[in-house]
Amino acid sequence: MTEEKMFFENEVFSKEDYEFTFKKDEELIEDILKNKKCGKVLDLGCGEAGTSLALADKGFEITCVDISKTAIENVKKEAKRRGIKINALIKDLETFEIEEDYDVIICTGVFHFLPKKIIFKLIKEIKDHTKENGLNVFEVFLEGDPSQEEDSVGYYFKKGELKKIYSSWKILDYEEYEEYDEDEKQINKLAFLMAKK
Ligand SMILES: C[S@@+](CC[C@H](N)C(=O)[O-])C[C@H]1O[C@@H](n2cnc3c(N)ncnc32)[C@H](O)[C@@H]1O
Repeated sequence: MTEEKMFFENEVFSKEDYEFTFKKDEELIEDILKNKKCGKVLDLGCGEAGTSLALADKGFEITCVDISKTAIENVKKEAKRRGIKINALIKDLETFEIEEDYDVIICTGVFHFLPKKIIFKLIKEIKDHTKENGLNVFEVFLEGDPSQEEDSVGYYFKKGELKKIYSSWKILDYEEYEEYDEDEKQINKLAFLMAKK
């Protein structure tokens, strides 16, 4: 069986009929731009990196990290096509160490692939490597999400848990919500957080 963290590489991105669309999250871009007009962005578990590519188009300096070789190769190709520079790295977040400080660190739809111990170490590192007034942006899956299985390696957050972790920062947005997943035909339970240091 495919290791959970390799699911997107093996079962999604590397499939012959998969099409990279580099879809961006317009609302997220707007919210980031309300707080930052330029700066350094780190996108952890970037996947297609649509939002980061759009921020690079606007002059942000982007570093993208993903375990998927196919995703990173395609992100690099797309950056070249757009005539922008982007630092895209094939790395496993279980061992990745953040070496620089960033204005914005984004990690969406990734934590449910990582064990709890790694996540809490990574969140500490993310916080430490965020510049003063910098932003952290997360979207996480919550306990009870239909994708959670008894033997899931990845961590599912408790209601309110992520907000509590950021209680000493300014919470710009925190929402818990349900969203229909068209591909899996299921309703996901999610939380979104944007916090300012
Ligand atoms: C659901 S996609 C989310 C992609 C993107 N962040 C977004 O919001 O659209 C999950 C991504 O996490 C990556 N991923 C999973 N485990 C990882 C790990 N241990 N290290 C790095 N990337 C990982 C997958 O390859 C995939 O690209």
